[in-house]
Amino acid sequence: MEKTLVIVKPDAFEKQATGAILDILQKNDLKLLALKMFRFSKEKAEGFYAVHRERKFFGELVEFMCSGPVVAAVLESENAIAKVRELIGPTDSEEARSSAPNSIRALFGTDKGKNAIHASDSKESADYEIPFIFSCLEIVG
Ligand code: RTP
Ligand code: MG
Repeated sequence: MEKTLVIVKPDAFEKQATGAILDILQKNDLKLLALKMFRFSKEKAEGFYAVHRERKFFGELVEFMCSGPVVAAVLESENAIAKVRELIGPTDSEEARSSAPNSIRALFGTDKGKNAIHASDSKESADYEIPFIFSCLEIVG
């Protein structure tokens, strides 16, 4: 079994889409092991997305992730990381609406920046991101 981390981003939270997004993930046999709502500080968002710190969109990304509450979850299934990346669709929600119209980003995102959901993109990133957000006592199973 494999674990992955998702974060419902501030745009999707604001749209009241958190429940609908978790419903899609759970209906695709991803088991919910942990769940929490919080708001990122600038420092914590910079740490979470540290892999992107040299990218030109880093400041904009951090500002967006701090702009409102988020909901994070740990999900588990066989091949959970690839499965969730498939369900969320491409980074740019506008592109998602043409290439993956039923994906979470197509349904709930706006564009490349405001794209509704984060998901771990590799085992290495899941191993960094899950303990960044959750303590071991908060993960069931
Ligand atoms: P995420 O990490 O949030 O799941 O997204 P991703 O893997 O699909 O995309 P990634 O390349 O890791 O980029 C992280 C987030 O940065 C924002 N972004 N903005 N304005 C831009 O050109 C741009 N490019 C990326 C997006 O919010 C993206 O999800
Ligand atoms: Mg990424």
